[in-house]
Amino acid sequence: MNAPAISALHEEVRALAQERGAVILAHNYQVPEVQDVADFVGDSLGLSREAAATDAAAIAFCGVHFMAETAAILSPEKTVLIPDLDAGCSLAASITAEQLRDWKAQHPGAVVVSYVNTTAEVKAETDYCCTSGNARAVIEAIPEDQEILFLPDLFLGLWLERVTGRKLRIWMGECHVHAGIRPADIERWENEPDAELLVHPECGCASQAMAFGNGRTHILSTEKMIDFAKSSPKERFLIATEVGILHRLQKEAPEKRFEPVSERAICRYMKMITLEKLRDSLRDWKHVVTVPPETAARARQAIERMVAIA
Ligand code: 13P
Ligand code: SF4
Repeated sequence: MNAPAISALHEEVRALAQERGAVILAHNYQVPEVQDVADFVGDSLGLSREAAATDAAAIAFCGVHFMAETAAILSPEKTVLIPDLDAGCSLAASITAEQLRDWKAQHPGAVVVSYVNTTAEVKAETDYCCTSGNARAVIEAIPEDQEILFLPDLFLGLWLERVTGRKLRIWMGECHVHAGIRPADIERWENEPDAELLVHPECGCASQAMAFGNGRTHILSTEKMIDFAKSSPKERFLIATEVGILHRLQKEAPEKRFEPVSERAICRYMKMITLEKLRDSLRDWKHVVTVPPETAARARQAIERMVAIA
């Protein structure tokens, strides 16, 4: 799409959002033209907080399905729209509520900590939710002698064990995009003294990155990558996460240079949301995301704990 076509659609989307009383929320991995029309762009934690706090009547959620579900659980009185119902998440699909119930039955008394990348049904079986932005603080808020089931991301779980010094029981799920960022993708950067390496904890290379221990390697959520790049005196950053984040990084810190460690790190689910689909969603009031009240009531406490823990 060329620039005039994008700005015409931006105008249309903004007018519809105003008419409909909708706030537009977009994840850091959304395509640039969707990020640019949103009222708020952020990571999973920031978006959940924004969804809980907004006084708009509706939320147009430019992200993936579990994120829209989380918003619907936090704000049951609001209409939550997702522009494409097929925008799922391979990580959220890696565990079902039934599998979690079986796992819990094998470990009676264990506390369940679920990454926010899970379905509402899985959250309903969960004690604490967390995101990459506060996972460490959530684990540290749980008494040390308490057995913990952590799900569904293997690499995030291994990173948490390392930074908290706690032993966790970890589900063997993974995000195909982040797991695909391998140690070989970052090895070549180890000897680049002028660059900082920012790595998302879901990455298949996160353990390798921690093993560098060189002070220039940082394991961060997407939002913390932005904060870090803005406040760092360094000028060059290598980014190990989904490539959509580069638009926001470049926008927030235009004087710095950002390079992806892997150009292949593209989440096809995040890219399903387009400006046209967002326009149609606001115009035709689709697709409304709802969570059955009983499931929502059971999931809400775990999500509210996540939103409260910094
Ligand atoms: P954060 O934005 O919370 O870092 O999560 C990344 C992600 O993969 C979301 O699906
Ligand atoms: Fe899910 Fe991975 Fe896409 Fe994030 S990047 S939405 S974890 S599939």
